[in-house]
Amino acid sequence: NDKKNLLVLAGDGIGAEVMAEVWRLIDWLDRRRGISFAVSEGLVGGVSIDAHGVPITDATMAQALAADAVLLGAVGGPKWETLPFEVRPERGLLRLRKDLELFANLRPAVVFDALVDASPLKAEIIRGLDIMIVRELTGGVYFGQPRGIETLADGSRRGVNTQVYTTEEIRRIARVAFDLARKRQNRVCSAEKANVMESGVLWREEVQWVHDNEYPDIDLSHMYADNCAMQLVRNPGQFDVIVTDNLFGDILSDEAAMLTGSLGMLPSASLGAADVSGRRRALYEPVHGSAPDIAGKGIANPLAVLLSFGMCLRYSFDLKAEADLLDRAVNGVLDGGLRTADIMQQGKARISTGVMGEAIIREMDKLSG
Ligand code: NAD
Ligand code: IPM
Ligand code: MN
Repeated sequence: NDKKNLLVLAGDGIGAEVMAEVWRLIDWLDRRRGISFAVSEGLVGGVSIDAHGVPITDATMAQALAADAVLLGAVGGPKWETLPFEVRPERGLLRLRKDLELFANLRPAVVFDALVDASPLKAEIIRGLDIMIVRELTGGVYFGQPRGIETLADGSRRGVNTQVYTTEEIRRIARVAFDLARKRQNRVCSAEKANVMESGVLWREEVQWVHDNEYPDIDLSHMYADNCAMQLVRNPGQFDVIVTDNLFGDILSDEAAMLTGSLGMLPSASLGAADVSGRRRALYEPVHGSAPDIAGKGIANPLAVLLSFGMCLRYSFDLKAEADLLDRAVNGVLDGGLRTADIMQQGKARISTGVMGEAIIREMDKLSG
């Protein structure tokens, strides 16, 4: 059965706006390449709360579990911020990650040549930059117990979250990072706070253990996460693969996004363990959120979600030629000077989400003859 089952969850805010450009690409692949997907759609986040009272329904979860891949736009927004914590839009995304056991979040930060002067950092610092952040996604302080807000005897309150990592959780994410490094520059930097946190001490020891026993050929270094944040802007070129926990990975990947010129450029893939046939459960999503400040204006950058779909073509459907073509199309369009408003560059015309999407399709046409 070679039906490619794709579940699309556009979500909230700019999620639906940027996802419209993916639909163009899906249509293009069908028309021009004879590649068709069995696409279904569902609700996640605030739109699901509005329709069903929960950020994701059991039925949508079942669809996600059955799909070969899930593509998600973004969730969240001011409309739902005052809801009780357990039913907020973000819980829908976190449930998807947890229940699909998507422990490995790959967040590549690549600087396109045309955008070297769009970063707030100097061009010479970020030219040619290509970093892969590997973020642990189903453990750590995001899910650790105990957690909650409790009221104390004197009426004051206490908020609790717990950072927990086990040997196996650390080892499996380390293996993902080392495997990726072997196909790249052979370097892994592991970031934690082993100077302050016991979970950080364990993290460092287990990453070192996996290295020494299974990947001695990789150049492994350890760095405190705060120093890593600083080094990312001081000299990002020193990094190849960075492996880190759930919370540090969230923060470091937003930071890395700005090296590339805009958060609207950064894709991600969230992968589970491989089954016997080598297939992994997978969810693809931009690193950015629902961008309430620009939602509804039609000016969001669709490249992050398009590149996320590109990662989906590459990792879940083995469509390397098409994924490469998309990367080249993005390069071509950026070289041609088109920019959405989030990219800070002087003297460029500002185009809408839709015009950017159309330009990508036109470039795909051109490149594929
Ligand atoms: P955000 O990523 O939504 O926006 C941060 C800034 O980046 C905003 O100024 C926004 O306009 C800009 N931006 C982001 N993506 C862009 C794009 N594609 N094109 C142009 N500009 C873009 O982060 P936030 O404002 O902290 O969060 C807003 C909501 O999104 C919150 O509810 C948050 O929880 C949620 N969120 C969801 C995800 C997700 O669904 N994966 C990720 C991050 C935040
Ligand atoms: C991300 C987001 C999410 C996270 C939120 C929306 C739950 O910031 O994907 O980076 O913190 O993981
Ligand atoms: Mn984030």
